[in-house]
Amino acid sequence: MHFHNTLIYWYLQNQRELPWRKTQNPYYVWLSEIMLQQTRVAQGLPYFLKFKEAFPTVFDLANAEESMVLKLWQGLGYYSRARNLHFTAKYIANDLNGEFPSSYKELLKLKGVGDYTASAIASICFNEPAAVVDGNVYRVLSRYFGIKTPINSSTGIKEFKILAQTLIDLTQPGTYNQAIMDFGALHCKPQNPLCNKCPFSSSCVAFEKGLVNDLPIKEMKLKVKKRFFNYLVINTWDEKTVLSQRTGKGIWQGLYQFPLIETDKAINEQKLIASEKFQSLFLKEATISLFNQVDVVHKLSHQHLYTKFWIVKTPEVEIKTIPWNEVDKHPVPVLIDKFLDAFLNKKK
Ligand code: ADE
Repeated sequence: MHFHNTLIYWYLQNQRELPWRKTQNPYYVWLSEIMLQQTRVAQGLPYFLKFKEAFPTVFDLANAEESMVLKLWQGLGYYSRARNLHFTAKYIANDLNGEFPSSYKELLKLKGVGDYTASAIASICFNEPAAVVDGNVYRVLSRYFGIKTPINSSTGIKEFKILAQTLIDLTQPGTYNQAIMDFGALHCKPQNPLCNKCPFSSSCVAFEKGLVNDLPIKEMKLKVKKRFFNYLVINTWDEKTVLSQRTGKGIWQGLYQFPLIETDKAINEQKLIASEKFQSLFLKEATISLFNQVDVVHKLSHQHLYTKFWIVKTPEVEIKTIPWNEVDKHPVPVLIDKFLDAFLNKKK
């Protein structure tokens, strides 16, 4: 039996019921696939439903304010994905009359659409045999074929794509692609894979050689950078605070945050007050207290943010303020959102 026959047989009995599987509408498939990059299905699903409701067509998404798109995206992370999504919606609505490109090659030209997403849309919506390779596919193939090439090396990326392309079912590529991803997510799982009831166990190299827990192999990545964030949570006497929008290319572009003083190591209250930025900000009669006695450590892929939230009470400030009850209209990073939950609940 071919690899794809066994896989699709498994899929027909075990597939997940997911809303975007009920359609071949490329707008919905595109939305779901962009959301599901670096996000598990269970986590991405509510976001898909929210977007579908708020923006039923690509024209609705194109016409939305960017801050609304970012607000609905809040919590999914990798905000450049949301900005590219919005950019591409405008391009499709305005320049292509709302028609999605219908081939892998053309889809790949869209901003924010890489090999994975172009393959997913081309196969699911247009029956083009373009193989997807995501984390699930790397795991299934490296185990089944016993491949030790690191999956995040440039050789590995090429090798796995070529292999995946030889395995795809030419008559039902969209079903095959979704089958291998579901098989990786539900059966050939990172931890505790279900080898004892696996339809591939008689031909799986990793199973035969006892390598299941060693594969796939990942190359060691760069060291994680530590950063030290001090947020100034300003409270004026007329119940206002200060939020500013992050500009520049770094993390969280376009999101809002409290005034930030970044330092190269953890600092105490005296050092905070003495810092140039603090001095330049204000402040008459400010009283300062630390909200979290232990740093909140927010982990991103290449950096860990050691964060202190300083509560600063002051009569007034010279910069633009907003009322506290408008804070939740602004898209903020999850780090700030969690702080707001704790802080505002305590205030109530
Ligand atoms: N992960 C991302 N997209 C998927 C899909 N269409 N099916 C299964 N898993 C996925």
